[in-house]
Amino acid sequence: MFERTRPPVDPVTFTLDGREIVAERGEPLAVAMLAAGESVLARSPKLHRPRGPACLRGDCDGCIARVDGVPNIMTCLRDTRGGEVVSAQNVLGSRKTDLLRITDWFFPRGIDHHHLMAGVPGVGSAMQTFARQMAGIGRLPDEPVTPVPAARSECDVLVVGGGLAGLSCVRRLADAKRSVMLVDEGAALGGSARFAEDGRALVADLGPTVEASAKVLLRSSVIGFYEGEALVVEPANAHVIRPRVLVVATGAHDGVLCVPGNDLPGVMGARAVCNLASSGIVPKDGAVVVGEGPWAERVKAALGSRVVAARSERDIASIAGRSRVRGVRTTDGASFDCSVVAVATTVSPSFQVAAQAGASTGVVDGGFAVVVDADGRAHDGVFAAGECAGVAFDPKELVASGERAARGVVAALSPR
Ligand code: FES
Repeated sequence: MFERTRPPVDPVTFTLDGREIVAERGEPLAVAMLAAGESVLARSPKLHRPRGPACLRGDCDGCIARVDGVPNIMTCLRDTRGGEVVSAQNVLGSRKTDLLRITDWFFPRGIDHHHLMAGVPGVGSAMQTFARQMAGIGRLPDEPVTPVPAARSECDVLVVGGGLAGLSCVRRLADAKRSVMLVDEGAALGGSARFAEDGRALVADLGPTVEASAKVLLRSSVIGFYEGEALVVEPANAHVIRPRVLVVATGAHDGVLCVPGNDLPGVMGARAVCNLASSGIVPKDGAVVVGEGPWAERVKAALGSRVVAARSERDIASIAGRSRVRGVRTTDGASFDCSVVAVATTVSPSFQVAAQAGASTGVVDGGFAVVVDADGRAHDGVFAAGECAGVAFDPKELVASGERAARGVVAALSPR
């Protein structure tokens, strides 16, 4: 599906289901597997459809695997050190030939396992047991995990999201001598801007200042905001953080194509394809770009002649392939062979954390975004900035949005 245009710097190896994969030290395992030509890394839990990485930023289920005896690892967020043992989970047979795929053919309209055989004496409970086994998401870890107590902290401001809006907000708050914590799901600061020509320099400018002035938790997620406290999980620990003010800069989810075949390995967000291209990893058999806007332009520029077609979302009739993308069919009867579909359709603002903290949402271009006032304020003690507040992915606009929220926060924290 993908190939490298340059050899890995500082190569290391790991195994995927026994096959040796050569990787560049420090690159995510999922990136290395894609670069080695692997497209199917996982299976959907219930119908066992093939899954491949779609986002490369911890936002889908396409890269989940068992790594060194631990299940459900998002391999797009795990840097390769060398020597890892990666294996598929939740398959009967192999990752590429999963016999449980038969459920997809038996139940073409999906399974309502809550009601399947329910009420039939003797059969209902057996069916539930079977469904739980079939739709599991991996075996328990090889070794028991020792629980550790969550760490408690307090700060003036908790910023959720380390993209350009979050980074620029943190810098301004640090200038105002506020104590700041920053939580981000990614493996590095900068979010998608790291893979945009027009955003990379801004990340390089803001990142070091932020790391020097705030407590930064990477590969960490805010999974809830309860009574003024954020519950944050990172791979081995948990934190309970009580901020005086919460700033949400959680970005946006990639857009989705609503056509048959939209879940095949090879259908990826344009940002993910730009991420790979920035490391010299490009579609082997060409890509079709779907959608308009800045990310469509960025991915076209990054892939150059590897783009076999660029079409609008409404032109797409279906995506062809059984276990991975083989081509795209359009409504005017044309077809294009390709191994990758780069989706640059309308994104969905990630409003969930802000909404849980009390913010309201409103409809913006195609989705719900956090409603903010002119100072970025969304609710008492809650501010929002960037794409989650409906700002388009324009690096300068994102920085301005983060700075606006920071000014609002400083005013809110100042004695009256
Ligand atoms: S979560 Fe890893 S590719 Fe989407």
